[in-house]
Amino acid sequence: MLLHTIKEVREQVKQWKKEGLTVGLVPTMGALHEGHLSLIQKAVSQCDKVVVSIFVNPIQFCPGEDLDKYPRTLEADTKLCQDAGVSVVFAPTPAEMYGEREMRTNDFLTYVIPPFFHVHKLCGKSRVGHFDGVCTVVNKLFNIVQADRAYFGEKDAQQLSIIRKMVEDLNIPIEIVPCPIIREESGLALSSRNKYLSAEDKVHALALYQILNNIKLCYKKGVTDVQALKETAIFILNEHHDLEYLEFLDDKDLEEVTEANDNTRVFIACKVGGVRLIDNMLLG
Ligand code: PAF
Repeated sequence: MLLHTIKEVREQVKQWKKEGLTVGLVPTMGALHEGHLSLIQKAVSQCDKVVVSIFVNPIQFCPGEDLDKYPRTLEADTKLCQDAGVSVVFAPTPAEMYGEREMRTNDFLTYVIPPFFHVHKLCGKSRVGHFDGVCTVVNKLFNIVQADRAYFGEKDAQQLSIIRKMVEDLNIPIEIVPCPIIREESGLALSSRNKYLSAEDKVHALALYQILNNIKLCYKKGVTDVQALKETAIFILNEHHDLEYLEFLDDKDLEEVTEANDNTRVFIACKVGGVRLIDNMLLG
């Protein structure tokens, strides 16, 4: 069932709750691929009813980002959801989510601001305000759907960590379920933005996975010095890669580490053919 209004979703969920059914939420921005499908399948296997939200959230895009050209494929997405056993696809307009006046200027909107410590690193450094937009919309979706569980991919590990922190800090009664990264056979992590890559870019994009894999191999052989591990990337990067960051952080609290251990997650962001790609890997 495709619903566009908050009221309709609320009524539907209220009915399910009356029947004692558990509800799962998979928040997405659409352009669904196998990665999203894995989240949806997990939700369907664990909950009686599943809501997938499809909303290209304007307030999490920074100036100059791809808000206008972000892929919008609602028809195909709805079909994929139906085939996967999703009960409701919630696809609101920006005005439905934020109100007409709130959409015109930020001055009227209440924001959820995640902690500086978690935000001011990795993607947050170049995407100023991005995680404010993510936390605000995710908090709204939690309030609208009132699901028992919500599913997020480890592909966006910083986002996952920030959402967990928000849930803890604001005592939001929901269980956050992490889902592993899904990769193409080549190793490239699935992303809606892969659609922008040419065939040649795709070959160069493999560097992200190769770097992470190499680092993990070296770590498994006993190298723990982060500087030494970082330097292994030099052999893979070339003029086709515009590296934004390669960081080693504690998986839980995103604290920087200098000696890697099993709880260290390696994060990489790199532009290939003008497309910004991210990937990460836990060393343990
Ligand atoms: O990961 C995403 O696709 C988005 O950031 C999310 C969580 C759906 C919020 O808009």
